[in-house]
Amino acid sequence: MSRLEGKVAIITGGANGIGLEAVRLFGAEGAKVVIADFDVETAEKRETELRNKGFDVSAVKVNVANRASVNEMVDFTIKQYQQIDILINNAGITRDAMLSKMTEEQFKQVIEVNLTGVFHCTQAVLPHLINQGKGKVINTSSVSGTYGNVGQTNYAAAKAGIIGMTKTWAKELGRKQINVNAIAPGFTETSMVESVPDHIIEGLKKQVPMGRLGKPEDIARAYLYLASEDSNYVNGQVINVDGAIMM
Ligand code: CAA
Ligand code: NAI
Repeated sequence: MSRLEGKVAIITGGANGIGLEAVRLFGAEGAKVVIADFDVETAEKRETELRNKGFDVSAVKVNVANRASVNEMVDFTIKQYQQIDILINNAGITRDAMLSKMTEEQFKQVIEVNLTGVFHCTQAVLPHLINQGKGKVINTSSVSGTYGNVGQTNYAAAKAGIIGMTKTWAKELGRKQINVNAIAPGFTETSMVESVPDHIIEGLKKQVPMGRLGKPEDIARAYLYLASEDSNYVNGQVINVDGAIMM
């Protein structure tokens, strides 16, 4: 049986990488999916490709750092599908630099997209989840948020902040039958990791007992678990999907 039949999911950052894999997987499981991305040209291409395969997906431009843009994303979803059941807060950016060199602009940009963006999207979707009488919010933390990472003061702060928000919202929203959980992926093969120098990647692989980086599908499958009925009593959790890199 399709695990997300009849459900409507918004996946931010759904045009590329982990988000795109989640769009495909959720579509295959019967969900109607909004591909909400800043990179609208790619999102629209994905919409066409996936509609041709019989999936019910729709692209919309959003900048999660901008409240008005997020409200438009939610209005679009309601107009298109009349309900929202699942929000995957997946959009994210890096602006890596050592603490001694990080600019205030680099710090602010990452906090605004990776942390404030999650606040905006969840708050905007909330009335619709309450209206449904249940819902699932899945946030995307990172191994950098749980353990820290060289060159990522801004990113680690945002990803650690996401864990605090996840646990707070689980406590606030549990009584509304809304589950809020997070995935903390390890280093995963997407364009985000392409900027990391090769020698650092090789070093990282050696630290993973499973001997490889994550694949987008590894993370998307964890999103699916948290979005599906299989996790109805799982709330406020951060699931590490990282091949045990830092265990
Ligand atoms: N662990 C230990 N030491 C490290 C290191 C690491 N991961 N990364 C860099 N260093 C060391 C370097 O070897 C170097 O040492 P020496 O001075 O002894 O030579 C020193 O730190 C300075 O490094 P750089 O010469 O590279 O400094 P830079 O200013 O040119 O660049 C940087 C700094 C941009 C942070 C660069 O080192 C870099 O890109 N590092 C990787 C950052 C990273 O891991 N980003 C993750 C992106 S993927 C992602 O974010 C997804 C996720 O959730 C995990
Ligand atoms: P990616 O760079 O392949 O995809 C990110 C997507 O987010 C892109 O489509 C981009 O256009 C979109 N985006 C960026 N800023 C946006 C904004 N302001 N509004 C809307 N969309 C925006 O990256 P990847 O790897 O797929 O990352 C997905 C999530 O997983 C991110 O939150 C990232 O921090 C997290 N993550 C990634 C890891 C990795 O190693 N790739 C490890 C741990 C966490």
